[in-house]
Amino acid sequence: MARKILLDVDPGIDDAVAICLALHEPMLEVVAITATGGTVSPEQSTLNVQAVVEQLDPPRWPRLGCASPDQILRADRRHLFGVDGFCGAHFSVAKRHHQHSSVKVICDEVRSAPGDVTIVATGPLTNIAAALRQQPDLASMIRHLIMLGGTLSGPGNVTAAAEFNIYCDAEAAREVFHSQLTKTLVPIDLTARILLSFDLLEKLPAEESPRGRLLRQLLPGAFRTYRQQLGIEGIHLHDAVAVIAAIEPKLFSTQRMYGDIETEGTLTHGTTILDRRLHPEHRPNLDVVVDLDSAEVTKRIFDRLTQPA
Ligand code: RIB
Ligand code: CA
Repeated sequence: MARKILLDVDPGIDDAVAICLALHEPMLEVVAITATGGTVSPEQSTLNVQAVVEQLDPPRWPRLGCASPDQILRADRRHLFGVDGFCGAHFSVAKRHHQHSSVKVICDEVRSAPGDVTIVATGPLTNIAAALRQQPDLASMIRHLIMLGGTLSGPGNVTAAAEFNIYCDAEAAREVFHSQLTKTLVPIDLTARILLSFDLLEKLPAEESPRGRLLRQLLPGAFRTYRQQLGIEGIHLHDAVAVIAAIEPKLFSTQRMYGDIETEGTLTHGTTILDRRLHPEHRPNLDVVVDLDSAEVTKRIFDRLTQPA
C-alpha cells in the first residue's frame, strides 16, 4: 500500500522537481502539498505550488495549503532564481476560492490519519513549528518528519555557517528540533554529493507530456543559474534527494544525534549544531543522514525524471 506523504515546500525549481518526483511515485500517496515562503515570498510560493500541481494534473489531486503572508523570513533566493523562483518560466494559475492555510492543512491531514502521515519539509520549518505550537499532540501523530536542511560538517550556503532553510526561520527550526517528533535531518553537504549533469536535459520526456513540459520549462533555468551564478557545471537537487530518502531509506545511512540551532550568534545565526562528541551532554533528538549511496540516488532521480510519460 502506498505511504501517505505531505510535502511542505518553498518552490523554487528544486522543490518543484521534488513535487514532480513525489506525485509520480507509486509508492507514495501525496495527501497534501503545503506552501511556505523561503526561496520566494509566501504569496509566490503558494502560487508556485498551485502552478506545479496544475501543470502535472495528477489523477488524484493533493490538498493544497497557502503560506501565511505574515511569515517573516531572514533571506530568500530571488537573486539566484528570480522573483518567481522559476528563473522566469511563466505559468498562469486558475483562481482558487476556497484556500486553507498550510498550518490548517497539516493539522487536518495528520489528524485524519494519525500515525500514517510522513512529512517531507524542503523549505523553512515555519509551518511545522506553527502546527506543533497550535496542536502539541500532533507530534505523536506524525509518522516521521524528513527535513532537508542544515549541514553535517560542510560550510553554510547562505552565510559562512548557516544553511538556507534553517537560517530563514532559525527559531522555528529550533522548536522543531526540540519537539518530540520522530525526525530525520538530510543535511545539504550530503545532498550536494548528487550532481545532475546537462545530459538530463536531452533525456527529459517529450514536451507533449505534462511532466516533460514542466521539466523542460524549469530545468534549463536551473542549469543556467548554477553555471553563471555559482560556477557549477550541473545542478544540485537537494529537495529531490529528500523525497528519495522517503521512498528508499535503504540508500541512506543515519546516526542518532543531539541537534540544536544557534538563534543568537551574529556570525553563526541559523547554524545547525550536531553534537558528535563521544559523550554528548544531551540525549539524541533526531536521526541525521551521515552517508548515502550517491550513485544509486543519482540514478533513481535521473531515471524517474527521464521516464517516458
Ligand atoms: O539549502 C538548500 C535549500 O535552499 C533547498 O531547499 C533549495 O530549495 C534552496 O532554496
Ligand atoms: Ca526548498
